[in-house]
Amino acid sequence: MEFNVKSVLPEKQRTACLIVGVYENHSLSDAAKLIDDASKGYLSSVLQRGDLVGKLGGTLLLHSVPNITAKRVLLVNCGKDINANQYRKIIIGAMEALHKTGSAEAVCYLTDLDVSERDTAWKVKQAVELTQATLYIFDQLKTEKDKRNLSKMVFNSSSQRDIAKKACIEAKKIADGVKLTKDLGNLPSNICTPTYLAEQAKKLSSLHPKLSCKVLDKASIKKIGMNTLLAVAQGSNEAPKLITLEYKNGGKSAPVVLVGKGVTFDSGGISIKPSKDMDEMKYDMCGAASVFGVMSAVAELQLPINLIGIIPSVENMPSGTAIKPGDIVTSLSGQTVEILNTDAEGRLILCDALTYAERFKPDVVIDIATLTGACVIALGGHATGLLGNDEPLIDALLQAGKVSGDRAWQLPLWDDYQEQLESPFADMANIGGREGGTITASCFLSRFTKKYHWAHLDIAGTAWLSGKNKGATGRPVSLLVQYLINRLG
Ligand code: BES
Ligand code: MN
Ligand code: ZN
Repeated sequence: MEFNVKSVLPEKQRTACLIVGVYENHSLSDAAKLIDDASKGYLSSVLQRGDLVGKLGGTLLLHSVPNITAKRVLLVNCGKDINANQYRKIIIGAMEALHKTGSAEAVCYLTDLDVSERDTAWKVKQAVELTQATLYIFDQLKTEKDKRNLSKMVFNSSSQRDIAKKACIEAKKIADGVKLTKDLGNLPSNICTPTYLAEQAKKLSSLHPKLSCKVLDKASIKKIGMNTLLAVAQGSNEAPKLITLEYKNGGKSAPVVLVGKGVTFDSGGISIKPSKDMDEMKYDMCGAASVFGVMSAVAELQLPINLIGIIPSVENMPSGTAIKPGDIVTSLSGQTVEILNTDAEGRLILCDALTYAERFKPDVVIDIATLTGACVIALGGHATGLLGNDEPLIDALLQAGKVSGDRAWQLPLWDDYQEQLESPFADMANIGGREGGTITASCFLSRFTKKYHWAHLDIAGTAWLSGKNKGATGRPVSLLVQYLINRLG
């Protein structure tokens, strides 16, 4: 998909589709007005019949509009005063409708709409990211490929062309990172194994001179003493991997470290999950996939920072060699853990990876994990759960979420919850009971993150969609890239 920014008159465009906004009460946007004038009031007359009513982002497709050189005109319902979230809905609605038309290219004027508290760069960036996300198809594993070939999209920008162009180029790089994350997430666990992820990391690092990759195998992981990670892996025939991606473009500054949960399939282990929807546990490596997406976008954007991605990757399976409830393991930090539930495996691989992160002397560590079903109950699919030990870091992530539209919501990481993790036999248990499950999971991680500023993103509800739109979302790549850009000041 190719994106461009131009300043062009709608009535003169030879394109497959023009996309223009219409406000409440048939009031026309600037671009719609130009088309209406050229067509001697054709749009107004159609709208008069009341054919474009209903929800924000709803559309009406017109063919052969008089005196217009474009083949189609897509009218998009824009409501009245548009805020940031409404703008996103308008773009998504428009692109969903466009996708169905089979147009090979289009010129979109929605980027010229006024959006409260948002500038041109933001509107273009959102339009590019949302367009690529909405048109995404995962058909790698189908023999019949999708035949729609929308390959070129022009966004109009009547003012600030240079700013808009720059935003367009940057957004495309972020959107490609999101796509990489989705592709990895959507792959089934028989293809996307820890070994496969390690190969993909090497491949990614070979594309960028400033990116390097190191993969530790089971023997090396054992030598270091990452025993809680190995405990999860020991029931599976798939070999565990500890993947480190390093992006160096920030001189001597302390790095940001991202740690992504890479459980390529979470059966629950001996504490096995119910079979309903168990297929969705192929998505339990979406944290890892988001690290790939961010590293890729950052390398493409050539941000002047040091960034490290750590991906502990395992498969969680029941077998004769699997870890059993009640087993006690010594983590890399030296703290002992009583594994009361083998389905609380994410925190077991993360805690060792978080201790491992210390050796990079990080300024900030952010882990990203499909960690708890409780987070899905608490926040649903709209907000990513956010907890941590540093309020300025949390505020910065919340802010980046608001700007990118990839939003997070903070939950309290109070000491009061820590006692739920007490174990009679070890330093801690790996579960804290039904109450506050997302918080007690974070409490567990917090015991391994005392040496740096740390935040945890629980993406259990946001990393993928279920039901008929099943598929990875690529979240929270946008949020994280925005955070890294904002840090540059
Ligand atoms: N990967 C799951 C969390 C999950 C479940 C994400 C459903 C998205 C949808 C995680 O490993 C897990 O199984 N967590 C358990 C923890 C419990 C045993 C304390 C959970 O949430 O049920
Ligand atoms: Mn689990
Ligand atoms: Zn899991």
